[in-house]
Amino acid sequence: MFQAGLLANKKILITGGGTGLGAAMGRRFAELGAELVICGRRGAVLEETAGKWRAELGAKVATIVCDVRDASAVESMMDAIWRDGPLDVLVNNAAGNFIAQSHKLSPRALDSVLGIVLHGSGYCTFACGRRWIEAGRKATVLSILTLSALQGGAFRTPSAMAKAGVLAMTRSLAVEWGPKGIRCVAVAPGPFPTPGASQRLTPAGGRQRPIGAEIPLGRVGEHIELANLCSYLVSDQAAYINGDCIIIDGGKHLLGDGGSSTDMLLGWSDAEWDQMRRQAAGRT
Ligand code: HXC
Ligand code: NAP
Repeated sequence: MFQAGLLANKKILITGGGTGLGAAMGRRFAELGAELVICGRRGAVLEETAGKWRAELGAKVATIVCDVRDASAVESMMDAIWRDGPLDVLVNNAAGNFIAQSHKLSPRALDSVLGIVLHGSGYCTFACGRRWIEAGRKATVLSILTLSALQGGAFRTPSAMAKAGVLAMTRSLAVEWGPKGIRCVAVAPGPFPTPGASQRLTPAGGRQRPIGAEIPLGRVGEHIELANLCSYLVSDQAAYINGDCIIIDGGKHLLGDGGSSTDMLLGWSDAEWDQMRRQAAGRT
């Protein structure tokens, strides 16, 4: 189904492409012939991932250290990328998320998640869109959302707010930029375990339940399954898909729970929340 060279001649920026699902997508895009740029805050992490793709796949990969919360850093990154040739695809994948009681969040905690997901995706998308429109180029924006963008996400409220905003951006720009040949699409994955997500979203203590139990297909997603969907969506084979958000979750959203273990979190005591917060403080 995925022919070699499907993504040849496509230059793709993946924000947060050094780890987790961003790296899984990048590897698959590279296998299918794409040229890649990955960005994130940690240069060593980006270089380690890029080095593997260069050595194992012979891929052309550039890395750029960029905090997407910083609009001027995003502009500098796009200038640097464009000096070497324009992008064809932007993947808004960088994210921040953690579980917490919303009424106890500090303004900085709210801002940090909104900054990465909502502002970061906006800065990257508008910076690319301006360049594409000025040059009359066709292009694609793919944003990685969560089920909480569609259903809300108790105890993950900042992320749900931000991802819902990115969905609104996707739908708005699909109409505004569609006539200019720029497609805007999104995916909403269910659980695809990664170290980044598990560290921040797995409840502390022994109270978690097996994650596959809340999914009709009885298992979590495999990274290659998401990577293949995203490869299709950014390829020319998906040229008529615009403004949609594709759910890939084994049917989980139909159970009506916006996030794993929400019913259990509703029963947590303040002491359990304090323990979770101390665990997060120890990590950061
Ligand atoms: C309450 C918290 C907190 C927590 C941080 N904060 N963690 N508040 N509960 N667990 C507060 C801090 O106290 C601080 O506020 C403010 O948030 C900023 O924290 P910093 O550590 O200074 O910020 P920073 O180093 O910029 O880190 C940003 C981050 C961090 C979002 C807090 O978690 C991060 O870097 N995340 C990136 C990777 C990530 O989150 N990956 C998971 C994506 S998974 P004060 O007021 O104290 O200064 C995903 C999956 C969804 O989205 C669905 C899965 C099923
Ligand atoms: P992850 O490995 O923690 O990925 C997050 C990435 O974003 C990291 O590479 C991180 O790199 C980067 N990042 C964070 N803040 C940044 C900033 N300010 N500027 C630039 N880059 C930043 O987690 P993941 O599980 O792969 O998540 C990837 C995407 O999938 C996210 O959009 C997430 O919401 C979505 N998602 C994941 C799941 C899941 O089950 N894993 C489910 C649904 C949706 P640095 O720390 O080096 O900056």
